[in-house]
Formats: sequence, structure tokens, C-alpha cells
Amino acid sequence: MTEKVFTMVAKTFYGLEDLLVSELEGLGALHIRKLNRAVQFSGNQKILYSTNYMLRTALKILIPIATSEIRDEKALYECIRGIPWYNYLALKDTFAVEAVLRSDTFTHSRYVEQKIKDAVADQFRDKYGRRPSVDLKDPVLRIHANIVKNTLRLSLDSSGDALFKRGYRTGQGAAPLNEVLAAGLVQLSGWKESSPFVDFMCGSGTLPVEAALLALNIPPGGIRHDYGFRKWSDYNQELYKEVVAECVRKGRHNLRIYASDISQAAVHNARKNARQAGIEKYIGFSVSPFRDFNPPDGRGTVIINPPYGERMKQENLNDLYEGIGDKLKKDFTGYQAWIFSSNREALKHVGLHPERKLTLYNGPLECRFHQYLLYEGSRKERTIK
Ligand SMILES: C[S@@+](CC[C@H](N)C(=O)[O-])C[C@H]1O[C@@H](n2cnc3c(N)ncnc32)[C@H](O)[C@@H]1O
Repeated sequence: MTEKVFTMVAKTFYGLEDLLVSELEGLGALHIRKLNRAVQFSGNQKILYSTNYMLRTALKILIPIATSEIRDEKALYECIRGIPWYNYLALKDTFAVEAVLRSDTFTHSRYVEQKIKDAVADQFRDKYGRRPSVDLKDPVLRIHANIVKNTLRLSLDSSGDALFKRGYRTGQGAAPLNEVLAAGLVQLSGWKESSPFVDFMCGSGTLPVEAALLALNIPPGGIRHDYGFRKWSDYNQELYKEVVAECVRKGRHNLRIYASDISQAAVHNARKNARQAGIEKYIGFSVSPFRDFNPPDGRGTVIINPPYGERMKQENLNDLYEGIGDKLKKDFTGYQAWIFSSNREALKHVGLHPERKLTLYNGPLECRFHQYLLYEGSRKERTIK
């Protein structure tokens, strides 16, 4: 049973697909194929468990079960009725449906979810005279329906809650980064764990916490241990334990990760989140305006996610970004710095030439992730090593 190989799809954010491919290769997944905001792969039940438990840049692990062309609502209903749901769901179980639509024919996800739910329930009623109940919060089976134009792709959602819900973030600031996105930004930066990592606008600390989890090889699922597949009838407890046991933490005690913010409340939250993640002792916290932040020696990495301007006037924001650029030039010689922001106008005021410009999204906001190399000596010498 555990050796049966099947197809899976890991969903991610735009721009993180290549990182996800590398992570999947590292876990031994087979037939890896990059898609848009997702990566398809295959593997056995152990791969299903280890991808959920260990992937830092995946949002969900789906198991595709059917693809169909559907012209209208009737075709949708018929397609769902034709799938042997009793193979996946017992009468005593609960289920929920999530629909994601990009279609002119199907435009209301709640309505599509209701239709699918009705078709599943009708199939059970016809066969057994009764039907499983719906539980939107904590169902045994989550059915994932994706409709693009007129193509329906149905999957079983093995993750349950999305994988960015690592379980450590109870203290939240005003605009925290998604954990999967933060893990992606840290990996995209190419930060070397032996060098300092600095976030001097840390908010709730997502970037430093994800950096520490990465450096210590602590699986993102290490705190949560709660997945959809653990409620399924084929759940193999021994195999899950094996996956958990195989993941060995790195015993690094020389990490130099620093988290600072002007807001005392933010640093309090960041510290609390780091404590919940079990890595508080690896992060140096401080409350300070970034202008007064004292950078650690060494050629490190700065990643910051400054305010984008929802609550600030553009001119004040331009000044803030100019101040960030000045600080980087003055005090962070030898470092590489990355700024993640949706405010392109403000980014121009950093006053440094970006070495690399990546595009990612923070929710619906298109963002830039700019890398600046802060050379020692003149720019021409390019002495960063
Ligand atoms: C968008 S939030 C960062 C969110 C963070 N990445 C997270 O995941 O929670 C921007 C942060 O910049 C901080 N900030 C604004 N001005 C600052 C300054 N002059 N010095 C230091 N921090 C500042 C704010 O207090 C806020 O926490």
C-alpha cells in the first residue's frame, strides 16, 4: 500500500516554483514538473507525508482524482455524481468543498461549492439512504475543485489547513508576511547560515523565524502536526512517525540572526512567535529605529519588508525609503540587502542600484524584491565575496 505511486500537486506562490522544485528533489519526489504557482510530482504515501511535513514553500499538497470538461452547471453536477466518493469518504465522515475559479461560465465559488456538495450528498443518499455531514472547519475530507475556463480539476486536499499555518504565529502585527512567502524570500536571497541575518523592520518576526527554522533544519510542520491526511481511513501512523523521526535538526549554535523594530509591541510579538517556534534563543531582538541599529560584523544579509504606504503619505514613505538606503550605504558595507515592497515609487528613493529585481505577490499586491550589493570600497571594485 505504501509503495503505490501516485500524482500530487504542491501549490505555491508565484515566483517560488523553482525553490519548490528544489525542495521536492531533496525529498526524493519523482516526475517533477513545474506549473504556474504549483509543481506536479509523484511519489508514495511517505512522500505525501514528508512533503506536507517538510516543504517550506508549499501551500497545500493536493491529490488529483479527476479532470473533466464541463460546459454548464448540469455537466458539473453529473461529473461529480460519476465519481465514486464512497472510496474516499465513509458515511460517518464529514467533508467540505473548496472551489477556486477562473472562468466566465462559473463565477461564484460559493455556488459551485454548494453544487458539488449536493452532488456528493445525492450520491450517498441514493446508495445508502443517508449522507455524510458537512463540516467547514475540521472535515475528514476536503475536496478541492479548480475550474479554469471550462476545465474542472478535482483533488483531495491532503493538507487540511494551508501549510503556511505553521502554528507558531500567535502574536501578529499589522501587516505580517505569509510564512511560506517569508521562507521563500529567505531562500531566494541565498543567505549563508554562517553569516549574519538582519531584519531591522521585523514586525511579527516572520523573516527571522523562518530563517532560523531553515538554518536549524526544523521542519515547518514540527509544531503543527495536524494534517488532513491524518484523518483519512488509510492513515499510517507508523509511517508518519518514521517521517518525523527522519528529520534531524541541525545542531547549530553559532547562528547570528537579528530582529529589530521601532515598535516595542512588534518586537514583543516577534519574540513570542520565536518562542512558540522553539528558536527564541537563536535570535537577537532589539527595539530601535533602524537608524540606530548596530549591524553585526561580517558580510551578512539584510531582508526587510518596510511599510508599503497604506497608512502613510507617499512623501513620508519616500523619505522612509531614502533613510533605509542611506543607512544601508553608511553602515552595511559588505552586506547584501533585499527589500520587499509593493511601492515602486518609494523603492526608487532607496537611491541604490538594484543588482537583481524579482517580482512576487503579497496577496493581491504585486511586489518587487530588490537586491542591493553594498560593496566595500568603490562600486567598480565589486569587492563583495
Ligand atoms: C510591513 S511591517 C513588517 C512585517 C513583518 N515582515 C512581519 O512579517 O510581521 C513593517 C514594520 O516596519 C516597522 N517600522 C516602521 N518604521 C520603522 C523605523 N523607522 N525603524 C524600524 N522599524 C520601523 C513597523 O513598526 C512595522 O513593524
